[in-house]
Amino acid sequence: MGRIIAIANQKGGVGKTTTTINLGAALVELGYRVLLVDLDPQAALSYGVGIQADNLSRTIYNALSDPGQKPAELVCSVRQGLDILPANIDLAAAEIELIPIISRETILKEALAPLVAQYSFILIDCGPNLGLLTINALTAADTVLIPMQCEYFALRAIDLLLRIIKRVQARLNPGLTIAGILGTLYQTGTRHADEVLTQARTLFGERVFDVVVKKSIRFAEASALSRSILEFAPDHEGAEAYRTLAEVMTHDNTEK
Ligand SMILES: Nc1ncnc2c1ncn2[C@@H]1O[C@H](COP(=O)(O)OP(=O)(O)OP(=O)(O)O)[C@@H](O)[C@H]1O
Ligand SMILES: [Mg+2]
Repeated sequence: MGRIIAIANQKGGVGKTTTTINLGAALVELGYRVLLVDLDPQAALSYGVGIQADNLSRTIYNALSDPGQKPAELVCSVRQGLDILPANIDLAAAEIELIPIISRETILKEALAPLVAQYSFILIDCGPNLGLLTINALTAADTVLIPMQCEYFALRAIDLLLRIIKRVQARLNPGLTIAGILGTLYQTGTRHADEVLTQARTLFGERVFDVVVKKSIRFAEASALSRSILEFAPDHEGAEAYRTLAEVMTHDNTEK
């Protein structure tokens, strides 16, 4: 059975999509079968792996809005070992359309159920909010990975997210664990970034991963070509960081 990892932080631009793409690539490199799930109507993940999502007539939105839709029909192959359940702007409607639905928080979990057995890992890229789609991701997931940009105000966002996770654990998904907090966009040599990491380690302790992803123009260059950094610059330290993260994620070291 595939392990479902939600990659979430309601703060925008912290590296959620980049982490989804590169952790996915690193897990594929280790020989695992991976499904990426785009749960952001902006569709950065879908475009990030080279899918022209606006041209698709059916996307994850159909799986969430039509109980008769077979999710396997929506899956696109990216390359050997890597598939995606893509999104496009249609998904924006789901946030509103799901509101009056019974068990609205478990729709994604139900949609993914028929796919879980086919993959080792399912990575859900959440949008920058704590709306119904993100709650669906936290309800469907076994564990949540929180990218944190090493900048001020990052900690406040994490504090709020951890409170929401507690509520989800209490009411919707008692088995949900926190995989960890991943420092991203870390600028070497700035006191500022070090201070944020130190503070995060003081506040959240062991939950902060030892591995940190440094800021590098290589990430933008790779995404311009719809490539992971592992394919674009395999020896780069950014690729190494995501390989280390993948190794950690394959060990069952999560805590509640
Ligand atoms: N380690 C890094 N070094 C340099 N640039 C990075 C790094 N990680 C991500 N980026 C860039 O930062 C921007 C934001 O990253 P990304 O889209 O992954 O964040 P996000 O949290 O998914 O954003 P959103 O909240 O809008 O969905 C992108 O342009 C991405 O290429
Ligand atoms: Mg994103």
